[in-house]
Amino acid sequence: MTRRIAVSGAASGIGKSLAGLLRAHGDDVVGIDLKDAEVCADLGTAAGRSEAVDGVLARTGGALDAVVACAGISAARPATVAVNFFGVTELLAGLRPALATSTTPRAAFVGSIAGTRATVPEVVDACLSGRETAALGAADAAAARGEGNKIYPSSKAALARWMRGVCLTGDWAAAGIPLNAVAPGVVLTPMHAAHAMTEEQRENVDKAVPMPLGGYAEPEVIAHALRWLVGVENTHMTGQVMYVDGGAEAALRGRERF
Ligand code: NAI
Repeated sequence: MTRRIAVSGAASGIGKSLAGLLRAHGDDVVGIDLKDAEVCADLGTAAGRSEAVDGVLARTGGALDAVVACAGISAARPATVAVNFFGVTELLAGLRPALATSTTPRAAFVGSIAGTRATVPEVVDACLSGRETAALGAADAAAARGEGNKIYPSSKAALARWMRGVCLTGDWAAAGIPLNAVAPGVVLTPMHAAHAMTEEQRENVDKAVPMPLGGYAEPEVIAHALRWLVGVENTHMTGQVMYVDGGAEAALRGRERF
């Protein structure tokens, strides 16, 4: 059965790998990205998100079986919140009505092990209450006081909490739509230039994200997990962050929290 699936971030890394995997299995993929995709739009702006939603709906006649939001950036600046949080939640919200046409609708996004790390609470709170200008302002203030490294974790922590808040509502579980996340550790994509790291940088990364099982992951590993989450087999899993991280979450949080 051919499924029609929208994938953001489809031009590179995890999204590109997922789009290729889905197509190899006969699915009809509508890629969304800044360039080199079926729908080109900037998910970092409200106008761009509308363009993305309209573009996907126009190409699919308003009928989708799944949406996977992979697009993201990891810069220590406010744009990371715009792309990673609002670029995911608003894309999913905009395309959700198109999922209602499917007998097996599914949605997923890419979180991160970084979502378990220290955040800027004002950024997370503003995201969760849908105040983008305030969220970007709080991220800007964090960067100015030297806490820019908490912006990316904040965007991913907010996403996981947003998911828990909506996954059981009438829009999602009650409408038969599982909504889940895959949270990777370090993945060998252009975002994470691990190939080009110095010995010292590698040591710091390995301390921050210990991956005793298998080391850094290839993007295909994450793509396979996402494919299952949005596949017809996933009838009963929702609201979960699936850590595909070489054991990083278990190493960092131990037995206290899981
Ligand atoms: P990547 O840089 O290879 O791919 C990201 C894609 O998103 C690119 O094609 C880029 O053009 C697109 N994108 C960025 N900003 C956009 C915007 N404003 N509008 C539309 N598209 C935009 O990175 P990668 O590694 O594939 O990242 C995918 C997701 O995985 C991200 O959400 C990232 O936070 C997450 N992740 C990545 C990890 C890694 O180690 N690579 C680890 C944990 C999470």
